[in-house]
Amino acid sequence: MTDKKNNEDSEARWSERAKAWSSTSEKGISKDDTFNQMIIKEVGIQSGEKVLDLASGSGNPAISIASFMKKKGQVFCTDITPSMLMVARQRAQHLNLKTLKFIVSDMQSQPFESEFFDAITCRFGIMFAKNKFNVLKEAGRVLKKGGRVALIVWGAYEENPPFYVPRRAVAKHLGIREGPIPNRHSMAKPGTLEKIMRESGFIRVEERELRYNNDVVDIEEYVIRNLKRSFSKQTNCMTDTEFSLLKDTVVSAWQPFYENNVFSIPNYARLVLGSKT
Ligand SMILES: C[S@@+](CC[C@H](N)C(=O)[O-])C[C@H]1O[C@@H](n2cnc3c(N)ncnc32)[C@H](O)[C@@H]1O
Repeated sequence: MTDKKNNEDSEARWSERAKAWSSTSEKGISKDDTFNQMIIKEVGIQSGEKVLDLASGSGNPAISIASFMKKKGQVFCTDITPSMLMVARQRAQHLNLKTLKFIVSDMQSQPFESEFFDAITCRFGIMFAKNKFNVLKEAGRVLKKGGRVALIVWGAYEENPPFYVPRRAVAKHLGIREGPIPNRHSMAKPGTLEKIMRESGFIRVEERELRYNNDVVDIEEYVIRNLKRSFSKQTNCMTDTEFSLLKDTVVSAWQPFYENNVFSIPNYARLVLGSKT
C-alpha cells in the first residue's frame, strides 16, 4: 500500500503528468486565482520581499505573487520535478516577470542560505513530502527572524467535488474501482498541519478553513482539461470517440451543480499560518 502510494507521488509520476499540464495550462495568471490571492492576503506579502514558494508545480502561487509585487523583490518558484517547473516558466513568459526565479529543489532539503526569506508559501504540496518535519525545519532555517509561512492543503475528499465527481463518473463509465482516497487529502483532518507547525517551532500558528465556489461557465472545457491532467492513464489510449463519450458522462455528473447559468463547484482547503521566532 505504502509503495503504491509513494509510486503515485513519485517524481517520475509528476514528470508524466507535466506533459498534460503543459498542454492545458493557462498563459500567465490562472483562470481561477482564488486560492493564490487568499495566500497573498493571509501571509501578508509586501512588495519588495523575498518569497520562497515550495512545490510550485505549474507556478501557483509563485506567478501570482511575483505579479502582485510588480517589479520589486524576488520570488523563487521551486519544485522537485524539472518538467513541472518548465510549465511554470512557460506560463510566466507571458507576463515578463523579471523577479521570478526557477530552482529545482526538494522541499525537505533547501539549497538556500539561512535566514534569507521574508515569507514561504506552499499550495497543495506538503502532502507529497515523505518527511513533513524536514520541510518545516528547512523552512525555519531559510526564513529570517519574524518571517511568515502560509501552507494550503486540501480538505476532506468527500467535501471536494472537483475530485470525487470526476473520479466516480470515470470509474462508473469504465467499470473500474474508484480506488482509495488520494494522498492529496492526507492532511485534511483539522489540526493535523497546525500540530506539525507548532512541533516544528513556529509561533502564532493558526489553522483555518478556506471554502469558495468556482463558477465554471464552460463545463466541457473544464472536464476535458481535468480528464487530460488527472486521468491520463485511463484516457491516453482512447480513441476520440471513446474520449468524447467519457467526457459526456463526466459533464452529466456535474449537472447537480448547475445554477444561475454556471456550474458552481465548491472547493474546500485548509490554510495554516505561522511565524518564525
Ligand atoms: C499538486 S502539485 C501542486 C503544484 C502547485 N503548488 C499548485 O498549487 O498548483 C504538487 C507538486 O509537488 C511537487 N513535489 C512533490 N514532492 C516534492 C518535494 N519533495 N519537493 C518539492 N516538490 C515536490 C510535485 O513535483 C508537484 O509539482
